[in-house]
Amino acid sequence: MNEKKNLWGGRFTDQADETFFKFNRSYDFDKRLFQADIAGSVAHCRGLEAANVINTEDSIQIQDGLTSLLEKSRSQTDFFADDSAEDIHSFIESNLIKQIGDAGRKLHTGRSRNDQVATAMRIWTRAAIDDLSGDVTNLQKALLDLAEENIDIVIPGYTHLQKAQAVLFAHWCLAYFEMLRRDAERLAEIRKRVNILPLGSAALAGTSYPIDRNAVAEYLGFEGVSRNSLDAVSDRDFCVEFVSASALIMTHLSRLAEDIILYCTNEFGFFELSDAVATGSSIMPQKKNPDSMELVRGKSGRVFGDLISLLSMLKSLPLAYNKDMQEDKEAVFDAFDTVSDCLRVTTIVLKNLSVKRENAERASSKGYLNATELADYLARKGVSFRNAHEIAGKIVLYALEKGVEIEKLRISELQEFSPEIGEDIFGALSLVESLNTKNAIGGTSRNRVDEALKEARNALNK
Ligand code: ARG
Repeated sequence: MNEKKNLWGGRFTDQADETFFKFNRSYDFDKRLFQADIAGSVAHCRGLEAANVINTEDSIQIQDGLTSLLEKSRSQTDFFADDSAEDIHSFIESNLIKQIGDAGRKLHTGRSRNDQVATAMRIWTRAAIDDLSGDVTNLQKALLDLAEENIDIVIPGYTHLQKAQAVLFAHWCLAYFEMLRRDAERLAEIRKRVNILPLGSAALAGTSYPIDRNAVAEYLGFEGVSRNSLDAVSDRDFCVEFVSASALIMTHLSRLAEDIILYCTNEFGFFELSDAVATGSSIMPQKKNPDSMELVRGKSGRVFGDLISLLSMLKSLPLAYNKDMQEDKEAVFDAFDTVSDCLRVTTIVLKNLSVKRENAERASSKGYLNATELADYLARKGVSFRNAHEIAGKIVLYALEKGVEIEKLRISELQEFSPEIGEDIFGALSLVESLNTKNAIGGTSRNRVDEALKEARNALNK
């Protein structure tokens, strides 16, 4: 068994039980906080120096030591191989002491691992938010590119997964663009609350050294300092918010994935995935399976699980720090990894998607998607909408029995149902007209969609 490097030598005379040591340890997963913790440690060291708690010589030694650890982490492949460190914080401290000697033992003055870990988590989450925001933007771009390339293609719109009314394919793309726009906004709002410095709260009561916390915050790019030390060391709301925003992104991606999976089926046949993002079957030679999108749909469950893990871990925890909180990391890391992968893969899928114009338009022209246009036509002729709806319904029933679309009925047949119907009905029932009439803000008319695409591009370029 390895000699374990505890941070609490004095009070303890015996070694920890091996099984407990492993159970207690977070190093294997929290080493991802390495860079964040180094940054926090450098800032703390500068704070101690500015407050004259440590002298400039020690401060320089400590900062150089930390920087050199950062460099080693990049150049030495076995740098992180360590089976005795309890967590990344003790790993850094013990390696710093190894590197620079006694000056390293002064770094932990006036701080605790409680404010240290909270700080590192916030620095890490802030960078994760920036990464995810970039991934969201890239996916939004792919949606706009796809919409513009296929600007005049019409697809059926569905409610209850029953054909409802025809819409422009670009309008469908823009629907997902809007979901992602809200996701991006949410990430930006959360970032403000993540970006608050807990360092200086020490274990729970606040540091007893005259550290200028605002200066430390500014150095680390934080927008402010936490107002209450008890809260600051035990607050993981920012983790919950981050994972919650991630979960909602996954919800959106799973809906997009489901639409793509459906539309790639032979039954719908509106899309085809390129070989780059599909798989075949080991037995059925004809198959092209949308595994990429199925995995995105399936992985949403992991992120919802991460959110529930965090909420239940925090529920009823007494103030202030409790070791339960060590469980925050894997949930946050897993949510980030999953969402980031899913955003990237979905972007690639969209770049490898072809829209099958004929199939989409055939499907949009069959199945009475223009029945509402018929009712609207009658309403424009002065029939009350309720009556118009009833007349149109009867015409649909009649057409269904004859096995034809409404516009294939003769004018004389149509007039049996209402004398208000004239020759202009056929124009009104056409695919082009049914789209053009949806010209209020947010509608699927070509004008509105062009406008929306332009606005979306501008918003992205801002
Ligand atoms: N590994 C611990 C965590 O992630 C660091 C904080 C430990 N603090 C303590 N008082 N034991 O939460």
